[in-house]
Amino acid sequence: MLKIHKNYSLKNNTTFGVDIVSSWFTEPETVEELEYGIRHAQERALEYLIIGEGSNLLFTGPYEGMIIHPLLSGIDLLDESETELMVKVGAGVNWDAFVEHCVRHNWYGTENLSLIPGSVGATPVQNIGAYGVEAKDLIEYVEVFNTQKLNVEILSNTACKFAYRDSIFKHIYGEHYIVINVVFNLKKKKNFVLDYGNVKEEFMKFTEQNLANLRQTIISIRENKLPDPEETGNAGSFFKNPVVPMDIFDAIQEKYGSVPNYPAGKGKVKIPAAWLIEKSGWKGKREGDTGCWPKQPLVIVNYGKATGREIFEFSEKIRNSVQSNFDILLEREVTVLH
Ligand code: EPU
Repeated sequence: MLKIHKNYSLKNNTTFGVDIVSSWFTEPETVEELEYGIRHAQERALEYLIIGEGSNLLFTGPYEGMIIHPLLSGIDLLDESETELMVKVGAGVNWDAFVEHCVRHNWYGTENLSLIPGSVGATPVQNIGAYGVEAKDLIEYVEVFNTQKLNVEILSNTACKFAYRDSIFKHIYGEHYIVINVVFNLKKKKNFVLDYGNVKEEFMKFTEQNLANLRQTIISIRENKLPDPEETGNAGSFFKNPVVPMDIFDAIQEKYGSVPNYPAGKGKVKIPAAWLIEKSGWKGKREGDTGCWPKQPLVIVNYGKATGREIFEFSEKIRNSVQSNFDILLEREVTVLH
């Protein structure tokens, strides 16, 4: 029988570690339990929200509905050929535990996404990405629970409409599709992606260039720059890297000399939000228990007792200041719930 908790503190359910109460909270372990939870909410006209490990969420006040945290488990090999494999993974599996599993079995593909916090169920929603690889490069299809028809459906990679930190789950379908399993297409042969930043340079320091050492390289790079949510509350990058038209970029370049950038389609470039935030003077700044991480200013942190509202207000100050300095309105990567 599915347990539904009343007035449940979400302090340990988001990586920002803010103490927010949800009126109702439940953790279904099977599709049947998930259906029961959804029906329970629908019959009582309760608003509901699906969360993974809360690594991309900021609550600024109590949640007056039901939070559903699916705990569906399992890593199952569905099919394999000489060169590739299809692996089905439950939405509730911890992402990095899955990456570790892949590396241990010599399955290639996920290694650059080592140590990204969160659950497997969140990977297609957010199209997680790091060091030149995105979830969309690995996902074959996604199994979802349709909350309107109360049945299980399959969405192909194309149907998920993946884009930079975006997918159909963040838009219309998100309202009635809940990810229950993700099927990944992985490789049996070496296919390393080493072009991002200093990945290659660090990897070459190992005597052997194998899968385990690439995972270790990525882990070290991340640990060097990004705060560990177990120690310092955070949700990774708070904003997306903005894509701007050439004229805006030229104006910035004229003022600042060289500006880091990546091509982003015709007449457009992507500028690292970290650079814009640093140039706006926020890198390492702290107000009370909220701060802008000294080694990666794209990350906003909770040093201990910050409230969700304080973190949100701090992030808005950064956004306003980048807008007035550069005429660029940063888009949030983190989902804020008021
Ligand atoms: N930069 C600065 N100052 C800094 C740090 C960085 O100016 O203090 C500039 C530099 O020009 C640097 C550039 O920002 O070259 C890029 O920095 P970094 O490689 O750290 O990557 P990012 O663009 O800031 C993105 C993702 C990260 C992901 C890394 C590595 C987004 C919003 N963020 O950050 O993802 O780990 O690339 O691939 O795309 C996350 O989504 O939560 C996340 C951490």
